[in-house]
Amino acid sequence: MDLLQKVTALAKRRGIIYPNSEIYGGIGGFYDYGPVGVEMKNNLKKYWWKYMVDTRENVVGIDGTIITHPKVWEASGHVENFGDEVVECKKCHKRFREDEIDKACPHCGNKEFTEPRSYNLLFETHIGVVEGDKQKAYLRGEACQNIYLNFKNVVDSTRQSIPFGIAQIGKAFRNEVTPQKLTFRSREFEQWDMEFYVHPDDMKKYFDYWMEERMKFYKGLYRKEENLRFKQHPKDQLAFYAKDAYDIEYKAPWGWAENEGIHWRGDYDLKQHMEFSGTDLRYTDPHTGEKYIPHIVETSGGVDRTFLMLLFDAYEEEEMANGNTRTVLKIHKDIAAYKAAVFPLVSNKEEVVEKAREVFDLLSGDMKVVWDARGNIGKRYRYQDEIGTPYCITIDYDTLEDDTVTVRDRDTMEQTRVKIEDLKDTLS
Ligand code: GAP
Repeated sequence: MDLLQKVTALAKRRGIIYPNSEIYGGIGGFYDYGPVGVEMKNNLKKYWWKYMVDTRENVVGIDGTIITHPKVWEASGHVENFGDEVVECKKCHKRFREDEIDKACPHCGNKEFTEPRSYNLLFETHIGVVEGDKQKAYLRGEACQNIYLNFKNVVDSTRQSIPFGIAQIGKAFRNEVTPQKLTFRSREFEQWDMEFYVHPDDMKKYFDYWMEERMKFYKGLYRKEENLRFKQHPKDQLAFYAKDAYDIEYKAPWGWAENEGIHWRGDYDLKQHMEFSGTDLRYTDPHTGEKYIPHIVETSGGVDRTFLMLLFDAYEEEEMANGNTRTVLKIHKDIAAYKAAVFPLVSNKEEVVEKAREVFDLLSGDMKVVWDARGNIGKRYRYQDEIGTPYCITIDYDTLEDDTVTVRDRDTMEQTRVKIEDLKDTLS
C-alpha cells in the first residue's frame, strides 16, 4: 500500500474523512469530515486565522456567501475562461484533463484521443421558484470574489487604510473533470484567501513580503520542511488574471503538488468589477488625496488540501520495543483533534472512574480532551496514536492514594507521573 492508500484507510477507520453518500455508492469528488476530522479541520482554520488576522493590525476578516450576483462571474472572467482542456479516450471513453495524459490512456492504455474540448468548471444553479422566471446563478468557483465585492464596504466601514488585507475562509465549488486523490482535487472544498490591497508602486514589496510570510506559515505547520518549495508559474501558463504567480508546493506521495498560490493580481479584479457593475471602486488616499485603483497581492490556499498534506506529513509507522508496529500521526499539537485523552485504568471501579471524571472536568474547561474507558490500555494508546492525540492520561489505583496520574507522550511514548494540580501546566 502506498502512503495515499494508507492515509485514506486511516482517515476512514478513525473518523477523520469519510466518502460522501457512501451508502448510495458514493459520489465522486465529495467528502465529509468525521468526529475527529472536524475537530482537526476547525483547529487548522483557527491556526490560519490567528496567523493571518488575529496577529496583524492591517488584516480584517469577512464571511461571504456561496452564491453571488451572476454578473460577478462574467466580470471575473470565469464564465468565459474557467475551464479545463479535456480529451476523451477513443477506446474506453473516459475523459481526462489534457495535462494528465502522458501519451497513453491512464485507464486502458489506448493511445488515441479525441481533440481537446474546453469544459467550464463552474457549477450552475437557479434562483427563484417560478419556472421561466428563474435566474441562472453559480456556486462560487473561487472564494475570493466576495473579498473584491466587499472592498468598498470594508474601506467605508472600518478604520483600515491602504495597505491592508481582507481574509476569508470559505467553500468553493468546481465541477472538476477528474476529482482524485481523496480531497486533493475535490468538487467542493474550502479555501483560505487573503487579498492585500496596495498602492501600485508597492506591489513588488508586498508580493515578496507575502511569499515569505506564507512559506513561514507552512514551515511552522508541517514537520518536514524539506517537502516544501516554491514554484514559479511559467509566464505562458499564468491564470488569466495573474501577472506573476508562485505556488507553494508540498511533496505528496505522487510528487510535488500545489498547496497554495501567491498571485500578483494587480488591478485586474477591481477594474473588472468597476466595468461590469458601474460602481467606482477607486480608493482615495486620506493623506495625499491621490485617487487610484488599488493593486492586489493574493494568497490563496486549500484548507482540505493542506489537511491532506498534513496527514501525509504526520503519518509514521514505528517498530516498538516489543516488536509490534504502531501507526502514529505526529501532527502539530495545535491541530490534533484532542490535546489529551483521559483513561480510567478500569471501568468497573467506581472511585477510579469518578476520579478520572474529575480530571476530565478539570481539563475540559481549558482544552479539548476526550474520554476513553474501553478495552485495555494498550489498545487505547494505539487508537489515540492513530488520531494524533499528543498526551494520554491514565487514572489508576495509585491516583486514589497520592493524586498523581500517568502522562504518556505520543511521540516518545515516555510515561511520567504528574500531580493532578500540575497537569494543566504540564500539558501546556
Ligand atoms: N483565488 C485564486 C484561486 O482560487 P487556485 O490556485 O485555483 O486559485 C487556490 O486555488 C487553492 O485552492 C489551490 O492552491 C488549492 O490548494 C485549492 N484548490 C483548488 N482547486 C481545488 C480542488 N479541486 N480541490 C481541493 N482544493 C483545491
